[in-house]
Amino acid sequence: MIPAAKPLIGEEEEAAVLRVLRSGMVAQGPEVAAFEAEFADLVDGRRCVAVNSGTAALHLGMLAAGIGPGDEVIVPSFTFAATGNSVALTGATPVFVDIEPDFFCIDPAAVEAAITERTAAIMPVHLYGHPAAMDHLTAIADRHGLLLVEDAAQAHGATLNGTPVGAFGSVAAFSFYPTKNMMSGEGGMIVTDDPAIERNARLLRNQGMERRYENEIIGFNARMTDLHAAIGRVQLGKLPAWTAARQANATYLDTKLSGVVVPPVADGAVHVYHQYTIRSERRDELAAQLTEHGVGSGVYYPIPTHRLPSFDLQLDLPETERAARDVLSLPVHPSLTDADLASIVEAVG
Ligand SMILES: Cc1ncc(COP(=O)(O)O)c(C=O)c1O
Repeated sequence: MIPAAKPLIGEEEEAAVLRVLRSGMVAQGPEVAAFEAEFADLVDGRRCVAVNSGTAALHLGMLAAGIGPGDEVIVPSFTFAATGNSVALTGATPVFVDIEPDFFCIDPAAVEAAITERTAAIMPVHLYGHPAAMDHLTAIADRHGLLLVEDAAQAHGATLNGTPVGAFGSVAAFSFYPTKNMMSGEGGMIVTDDPAIERNARLLRNQGMERRYENEIIGFNARMTDLHAAIGRVQLGKLPAWTAARQANATYLDTKLSGVVVPPVADGAVHVYHQYTIRSERRDELAAQLTEHGVGSGVYYPIPTHRLPSFDLQLDLPETERAARDVLSLPVHPSLTDADLASIVEAVG
């Protein structure tokens, strides 16, 4: 079976973990600090605060920016539940809007139509590794005095008009879950250009303490361990080659697949293909056909967030519903061989 996703773990990751284990110091320490400094290179030198998941990065990032009860945050419904969950966890209300049909990202026109007096922020998701329409969204946020919070969980290294995702908003969040383009076991990164947000995020991560036992605010334990950071540092070094491999695999599939809609890339965008997501009106049949041919695939996401039991909202989001019905993600990970790629094309038929 060709797996839909495959975390790549090599001797360098093993050696890094062993080095930290043998040091006897495994909790948050110098490896985390080094990971933060190195990750900054991916996001135009912005301030980085490592935490223990992408969800924590979104949640604490928003809290650090002052989002809370009484606020509304405009989010896409077509995304992983963590996007809306993290808004709700701050006490703010997620306002779910539709996506544009080409790139599966939040529709700027729908965002503008959803703005109210209570809107505090817009939270685009760079879904599947394709940057959202940040040029339009930045203009809307500026015009209405709103914060931009980027959910960059799936888009390490993606760019729009030369600017990396994570470097557009007041706050951004990355995930290092094992199936992501790079991972740390579990982990996340809060990214900001604002020193006050950075400080708040550091306090929130560690029980509200900067100086030991002088807790300034009520905080969490959302610290990343040095074991996880050591893995993340190795993976960060491998990310450029892995991204190039994902892009080469995507180019092959773009040119060889037929009978399905292959994923387009917006002008000025660099897609990092966390997922290679096609559309097909016979999606479920196609997924079964792939399984028969030994090719894994995935549906991200079959139920729009607003319809999950956790939110249970009645909304009219036609492009979200259509995407939930017809998307299918094919393997695109860097460990695919030429024979694997040929098998995928053959299995799609
Ligand atoms: C779009 C999106 N947002 C947020 C998250 C949350 O990240 P994590 O699983 O690291 O908490 C994920 C990944 O799982 C995701 O895909």
